[in-house]
Amino acid sequence: MVEISTSLLSTNEEEIIKIIYDLEVAKTDYFHIDVMDGKFVENDTLEKMRKYTESIKTVSNVPIEVHLMVNNVEEYVKDYIDLEVSSITFQIEACKNEMEVLKQISYIKQNNCKVGIAISPKTDIEKVYEYLPYIHKVIVMTVEPGKGGQELIPETIQKIEALNKFIYENSYEVDIEVDGGINEKTAKEVINAGANILVAGSYITNSKDYVNAIKILKQKI
Ligand code: DX5
Ligand code: ZN
Repeated sequence: MVEISTSLLSTNEEEIIKIIYDLEVAKTDYFHIDVMDGKFVENDTLEKMRKYTESIKTVSNVPIEVHLMVNNVEEYVKDYIDLEVSSITFQIEACKNEMEVLKQISYIKQNNCKVGIAISPKTDIEKVYEYLPYIHKVIVMTVEPGKGGQELIPETIQKIEALNKFIYENSYEVDIEVDGGINEKTAKEVINAGANILVAGSYITNSKDYVNAIKILKQKI
């Protein structure tokens, strides 16, 4: 069953309460919060995404998944643990070594939060394999992290296929989430490659009809 996680990155701050409400009515499965520190990626969304998370917490019960694109993973993990979100995913490229990755994984899990690892287009998918027994999801970045509205990078499709095969062969229970450039056309490709959670930002939030946009993405099986 394919789930949709709507990224709020490309939304208008003034309308956020109505957007949250309309997306809940449209049955988004998650809200996707893109936390960027202006260092790991050029964009800085720290203030905006903290406000969005607090707004969601006040008006909605839809689970919040946080995608950290930051250098100092520990600092923002602590912030979002305190905001009691449902999952926290960090970029593997932000960790210096295996010890640091394992440390973040256990800290997030000890605080009753689900944990994911995100992997940028240029990073080999094999880098995440050793952590699969300990995490809930892998976010395969299908665009370069840092902004919304980009085109899906076609080479990332085989990363999804390879990950899906490895997870199946080892009977791991890990969600494959894809993030970036998801629209009516690419949704079918990534689902066929093995993705079961699709992050979509501009395709949904730029549409006039959230219900229809989400329905179209889910139907692409
Ligand atoms: C990019 C973010 C994505 C992005 C998706 O760094 O991680 O979540 O907001 O936006 P679209 O769907 O417009 O590519
Ligand atoms: Zn994201």
